[in-house]
Amino acid sequence: MKLLDGKKCAEYLVADIAQQVKRYIDAGHRKPHMTIILVGEHAPSESYVKSKVTSCALSGFESNLIRLPASISEKELLALIEEINLDRSTDGLIVQLPLPKHINPQLVINAIDPEKDIDGFHPTNFGRMALGQKAFRPATAYGICKLLQYYQVQVAGRHCVVIGRSNIVGKPISIMLSNDFDIGNATVTLTHIETPRELLLDETRRADIVIVAVGIPGFVTPDMVKDGVTLIDVGINRLESGKLVGDVEFDAVAPKCEWITPVPGGVGRMTVAALMINTLHAYQNNFN
Ligand code: GUN
Repeated sequence: MKLLDGKKCAEYLVADIAQQVKRYIDAGHRKPHMTIILVGEHAPSESYVKSKVTSCALSGFESNLIRLPASISEKELLALIEEINLDRSTDGLIVQLPLPKHINPQLVINAIDPEKDIDGFHPTNFGRMALGQKAFRPATAYGICKLLQYYQVQVAGRHCVVIGRSNIVGKPISIMLSNDFDIGNATVTLTHIETPRELLLDETRRADIVIVAVGIPGFVTPDMVKDGVTLIDVGINRLESGKLVGDVEFDAVAPKCEWITPVPGGVGRMTVAALMINTLHAYQNNFN
């Protein structure tokens, strides 16, 4: 069993970005700039946003965090996004999800300028990504690709099973790994909550690579996978004890794996690194 160490890979990528940024600064350019909007109070969001701000500093980026009360109206939020869209000093804009119930997240995502949409959630970027065109790719899915690439895990020609069909992870990673990308050319099966249990097991038991993003601690058990599987655990679940765990019963499943991601220190770290890559590209697009 070998660990796909997201912390190590993310540090490598961020150090590389910081070097590139230094060259731009030395040449007299301004720093790349990320703006993050956080609406209301949500403990996991606080921790994700904190790691984004820290990673910006390590990458040599400027960042500003705009905190808004949960009572803000949808209209006010959309007006603020419009203002930031027009602000030439912001390269990338993130609206942290989830949003309060009275705000429609799809309307908010659609309001972000696709050229600043470093999350890759806007339909324009999702469409470009799906068509294999240049796009900001959804950061978690892109981070998984970068991790597989860093450890030279064979993807092309292999059978990959994705569990979970969310717009931010399951759908994009299943498209990206089946596309003719740098990391791709896999044969992908996308399973989800409505997949009958027997069918799910048929698929996962013959998979070379399993990617799980369901948000249920211990969802993947040893009987679900074959020996030598590569397991990518996207889950970040806080147990009542305070312990952070993924969607995989790690101790029991790890001995069967060729490669496995830990939680924490796996995919979560890669999501943030991929966001930094997208932000650097947004910045470069602004003066190229
Ligand atoms: N909430 C959980 N993951 C994400 C993410 O990747 N981007 C945003 N904006 N919100 C999230």
